[in-house]
Amino acid sequence: MLAENQTAITRAADLKELEEIKVRILGRKGELTSLLHGLKDVPPAERPAFGQAANRVKEELLRCLETRETELKQSAWRGSVQGLDPTLPGRPAELGRLHILYRTLQTMEDIFTSMGFAVAEGPEVETDYYNFAAMNFPADHPARDMHDTFFISDKVLLRTHTSPVQVRLMEKQAPPIRAIMPGKTYRCDDDATHSPMFHQVEGLMVDEGVSFADLKAVLTLFVRRMFGEDAQLRFRPSFFPFTEPSAEVDMSCVKCKGRGCSLCKGTGWMEILGAGMVHPNVLRSGNIDPQRYTGFAFGMGVERVAMLKHGIDHMRYFFENDARFLEQF
Ligand code: DAH
Repeated sequence: MLAENQTAITRAADLKELEEIKVRILGRKGELTSLLHGLKDVPPAERPAFGQAANRVKEELLRCLETRETELKQSAWRGSVQGLDPTLPGRPAELGRLHILYRTLQTMEDIFTSMGFAVAEGPEVETDYYNFAAMNFPADHPARDMHDTFFISDKVLLRTHTSPVQVRLMEKQAPPIRAIMPGKTYRCDDDATHSPMFHQVEGLMVDEGVSFADLKAVLTLFVRRMFGEDAQLRFRPSFFPFTEPSAEVDMSCVKCKGRGCSLCKGTGWMEILGAGMVHPNVLRSGNIDPQRYTGFAFGMGVERVAMLKHGIDHMRYFFENDARFLEQF
């Protein structure tokens, strides 16, 4: 019985057949199992010899089964990898990345937080009070027009700037205040450099003795860290209802470094943000005494900063989600 079973095992064509043979020999009703059960009927004198012989056969068959199982498993594996060329280069794994606007915002946040500014946020759906009234806009200001602003109702709108977060913050926190307020803003505007939804970073510092010199220092540091140590700043007198005095801030052209080129329309300068000293009425809106405290504020567009930094010439690239654009950063 040993020889014929050995032959059957070595001829087993696959693992399934091998398993069947194993059951036939060693299963509960298997050949060898019955033989070992029969041991009790063998005359006592012959039992030890019979038992030893049967066990040898069992061991031999088990070894044989194991060998064939290994062989069959190996050849099954070889079959499955046939035609596989391990020397071919692998398929590159596409790595995702953060959107360039988000990365620009992160860099801006890093720069300001390193100067001790906290990061605060406010709602995108805002009331007329915080967006306009608290920011010292007169009742007939053009920004309050339906054509410029997405009104939800008479008194509720999509905020047109991040400036309302200034007052929300002042209501919650007594001076000293030093914070930036990033977020989405909305205006009825759509061309190469404007989009109905865009991002701003607002800045606010309020304490005793805060001056325009502090504003210049903070903005100069920011622009140099963002655009390079050779960047120059220029403050032009301007007007915002919520600051007095107000300034529009230009930086030397990123492309020609101030000599004049097509990007800066020959002026050597590019407008980058608005800023000024917080108007006493705005401090009052935030329950802060303007006799004791002064502050500066600024606001800038994240898209604008990213466009200047990377030479992007149309707003739509940010929101189209064309991988050919996004992959460049
Ligand atoms: N809120 C202004 C805008 O959206 C930007 C701005 C200008 C913010 C001057 C300020 C500021 O805080 O001081 O155009």
